[in-house]
Amino acid sequence: MRAAPSLRGGICLLLAAILDLARGYLTVNIEPLPPVVAGDAVTLKCNFKTDGRMREIVWYRVTDGGTIKQKIFTFDAMFSTNYSHMESYRKREDLVYQSTVRLPEVRISDNGPYECHVGIYDRATREKVVLASGNIFLNVMAPPTSIEVVAADTPAPFSRYQAQNFTLVCIVSGGKPAPTVYFKRDGELIDAVPLSEPPAAGSGPLQDSRPFRGLLHRDLDETKMQKSLSLLDAENRGGRPSTERPSRSLTPDPSLLLQPTTENIPETVVSREFPRWVHSAEPVYFLHHSRAPGSDGTVEVRALLTWTLNPQIDNEALFSCEVKHPALSMPMQAEVTLVAPKGPKIVMTPSRARVGDTVRILVHGFQNEVFPEPLFTWTRVGSRLLDGSAEFAGKELVLERVPAELNGSMYRCTAQNPLGSTDTHTRLIVFENPNIPRGTEDSNGSASGPAGVRLTLVLALTVALELT
Ligand SMILES: *[C@@H]1O[C@H](CO)[C@@H](O)[C@H](O)[C@H]1NC(C)=O
Ligand SMILES: *[C@@H]1O[C@H](CO)[C@@H](O)[C@H](O)[C@H]1NC(C)=O
Ligand SMILES: *[C@@H]1O[C@H](CO)[C@@H](O)[C@H](O)[C@H]1NC(C)=O
Ligand SMILES: *[C@@H]1O[C@H](CO)[C@@H](O)[C@H](O)[C@H]1NC(C)=O
Repeated sequence: MRAAPSLRGGICLLLAAILDLARGYLTVNIEPLPPVVAGDAVTLKCNFKTDGRMREIVWYRVTDGGTIKQKIFTFDAMFSTNYSHMESYRKREDLVYQSTVRLPEVRISDNGPYECHVGIYDRATREKVVLASGNIFLNVMAPPTSIEVVAADTPAPFSRYQAQNFTLVCIVSGGKPAPTVYFKRDGELIDAVPLSEPPAAGSGPLQDSRPFRGLLHRDLDETKMQKSLSLLDAENRGGRPSTERPSRSLTPDPSLLLQPTTENIPETVVSREFPRWVHSAEPVYFLHHSRAPGSDGTVEVRALLTWTLNPQIDNEALFSCEVKHPALSMPMQAEVTLVAPKGPKIVMTPSRARVGDTVRILVHGFQNEVFPEPLFTWTRVGSRLLDGSAEFAGKELVLERVPAELNGSMYRCTAQNPLGSTDTHTRLIVFENPNIPRGTEDSNGSASGPAGVRLTLVLALTVALELT
């Protein structure tokens, strides 16, 4: 059995030698090329040896799985005397030729097989042409063109009392082949549990047998640590005790930090705000990759990093998504810092509202860079909004044709993301409008006039009720 192929090979060689004698010989091959990067100049080289007289050279670009062959270069010895594209030189007794095709700026669409067909005149009969061909697969790589990290399912509310899963999505597109995508936290590679399916409800993240290495090496019982820290804090006032944990993880609920005066909150308050669930576990990260091939041969890779958020330690954590690709000399990266909203900046327009104006109250930014995008909820303190609804979701609250009775009304905006929540209050001052007659909207006297009447009525009613 073993001898058979070599025997057949020997017969073939012998046959070839006999044929060579009759026809002359012709060998064709294309020089191998390593993968090239889009934008590079590429030269395909077809080498052939023959002792015959050349008839033609044809280069083909093969597409659609070999079904279509498109001529990209033809040299016809019968009609052309232009040899400038060909280098020929004598080497011993043989004629060695090289035909080259140059692609000055190779594109991803140039990726694929190429063939070089050479024909020589048969020695015996001039009418016959002997053909041989060589082929090559031109592998065109392209580095990713974009990278982006977003949070899945945003905006989402903050929950103080329930563990929330959080997913960061890194989207890398334009690469060919598909790049390798991975996450880092504060510069350290995250050792995540790979998932083959998208993270679905039901596979608990806290199974003990999971092979993971925690990123944060610290005391697991944070409640205990909090206590001892606050004790230490009480002992040596002013300086925080130095621990291996960054001091920012002791940052209490950002909403409590809204006023500078409330910054010195005892640690015990923080512990009460965050129930035990957030103290119990080190993060277990799950990683899922999905690939979507584009029509141009590039692949969009989405890497999903999911874990159970712990606002206390995850607030201000820096996550980066990095990409390795053979066409990149150094990794490409995008980063985000998870941050709860702090100190919303509120703008009211017009700055001096008059009765009948449409007033817009807009959150136009925060004291810090917030990620992910917060959820905004507006309420009117102690009452319903102008349209009768209890709350309004959105960045901008619009109060149309404000009546004088809204003067002094207080509005609360809650901005929250999964890392925290903050409230801001703003009071609406409406000035009287000379264009609006005072009968209907008596702005000047309204505070003491109609309100006073209402007060009297209410008092009368209370008295009546007490009497019966
Ligand atoms: C020969 O080919 C070169 C480039 O391929 C061209 O510039 C030149 O004009 C051609 N000469 C003749 C005689 O066709
Ligand atoms: C978080 O995800 C796990 C597993 O994916 C699931 O069991 C759990 O119910 C999720 N928790 C929340 C609050 O959605
Ligand atoms: C609204 O209240 C402010 C003082 O808080 C007062 O200056 C203003 O005149 C009041 N506007 C109306 C329409 O009563
Ligand atoms: C509003 O009432 C005050 C006195 O209560 C008066 O001085 C003022 O001129 C009034 N304004 C207008 C616009 O009538």
